[in-house]
Amino acid sequence: MIRKILKGLGIFIGIVVALLAGFYTKVYFSTESRFKKKYDITLQALEIKPDSALLAEGQRLIAAKGCKDCHGADLSGKIFIDDPALGQVIAVNLTKGKGGLPADYNEQDWLKAMQHGLNRDNTTLKVMPSYEYTHFSEEDMKAIIAYGMQLPAIDNELPETHFKPVGRILADLDKLPVMVAEMIDHQKTLSTNVVPEVSIPFGKYLAVSCTACHKENMQGGDPVVPGSPQVANITSSGNVGKWTEEQFMTTLRSGVTPEGKTLPSQFMPWTMTKEYTDTELKALYLYLRSI
Ligand code: HEC
Ligand code: HEC
Repeated sequence: MIRKILKGLGIFIGIVVALLAGFYTKVYFSTESRFKKKYDITLQALEIKPDSALLAEGQRLIAAKGCKDCHGADLSGKIFIDDPALGQVIAVNLTKGKGGLPADYNEQDWLKAMQHGLNRDNTTLKVMPSYEYTHFSEEDMKAIIAYGMQLPAIDNELPETHFKPVGRILADLDKLPVMVAEMIDHQKTLSTNVVPEVSIPFGKYLAVSCTACHKENMQGGDPVVPGSPQVANITSSGNVGKWTEEQFMTTLRSGVTPEGKTLPSQFMPWTMTKEYTDTELKALYLYLRSI
C-alpha cells in the first residue's frame, strides 16, 4: 500500500516538475525573443546647441526627473535591483569613463534611448523608464542630452543586467516594466507646445513622472514593488485636496506631510520633487486638484 502511494506521489511530483520546466522554458524563450526583437524606427532631427543656459537646465532636469535615483548621484551607474529571485538590474554608467557609454555614443544614440527606449542596435532597453521620457518636450530633451553628452568621464565597471527565474516570469507577464520599447508609441514626435507656467496643462505634463506609481488617474493603489507602502491617492479626493498650495510645496520639498507623516524617499521620491521650481510645483498642485 505504502509503496503504491509513494509511487503515485513520485509520478505526481514528476508531472509537476515537468510542467514547471515546460512553463519556464516557454518563459525563457519568450523573454529572449522580446529582448532580441529589433525595432524599425525613424529618429526625429533634434538640433542641440549646448550653451550654458541649456546645460544648467539639463543639470537641473537630470535631478528633477529622477535619473540619479537609478544611475547614481554622479551618473556613473549603479546596481539598482539586486535580488536573489529577480536578478540584477544595472542602471548603466552614463559617462564615458571605463564601464561607461562608448566614446562614440552620440546625441542620436541618447535620443534613441530616451525617446524610443532602444539600445544602439535597436533592441529594447530593459527597465529604463523611457516610456515616461518619450513624453518630454523637445526643449527638455535637448537640455538633458546636452548635459548628458558632456558628463566628465568616471570609471565604474558594473556587471550586466540579468534576470533570475522569478524576474523573467514577472517580465514575461508584464508584471515588471522590463520591455521598455514595447510600451512606447514609436510614431510620436516630441511635443513642442509645452509652456512652463502655472497651468493645468503644464501640471499634467509634469505628472507623467508620477504615473509609474500613482497611476494615470493619480489615485495610486497597490504597492509598486512587494514590501513597499500602498500608493497614496493624490487627487482632490485625497489629502492633497485638503492642503493649501504652500503645504503641498513644503511636502514635496521636505518629505513631511501636513498630517506629520514622513514620506520614505526610497518609495516616494521627494528627493526628485524637491528639485522642482515653484512654477512646477504650483502647476502640479493645480492639476492634481482639478482631478
Ligand atoms: C528606474 C531606473 C532608471 C531611471 C529613473 C533612469 N534610468 Fe536610464 N537606464 C536604466 C537602466 C536599467 C538602463 C540600462 C538598460 C539596459 O541595460 O537595457 C538605463 C539606460 C540608460 C541609457 C542608455 C544607455 C545605453 O546603453 O544605450 C541612457 C542614455 C539613460 N539610461 C539615461 C537616463 C536619463 C537621462 C534618465 C533621467 C531622465 C534616466 N536614464 C533614468 C534605469 C533608469
Ligand atoms: C516610485 C513611486 C512614486 C513616484 C514616482 C511618485 N510617488 Fe508619490 N507616493 C508614493 C508612495 C508609495 C506614497 C505613499 C507613501 C507612504 O504612505 O508612506 C506617495 C505619497 C505621495 C504624497 C503624499 C500623499 C498623502 O496623502 O500623504 C504626495 C503628495 C505625492 N506622493 C506626490 C507625488 C507627485 C506629485 C509625484 C510626481 C511628481 C509622485 N508623488 C511620484 C510613490 C511615488
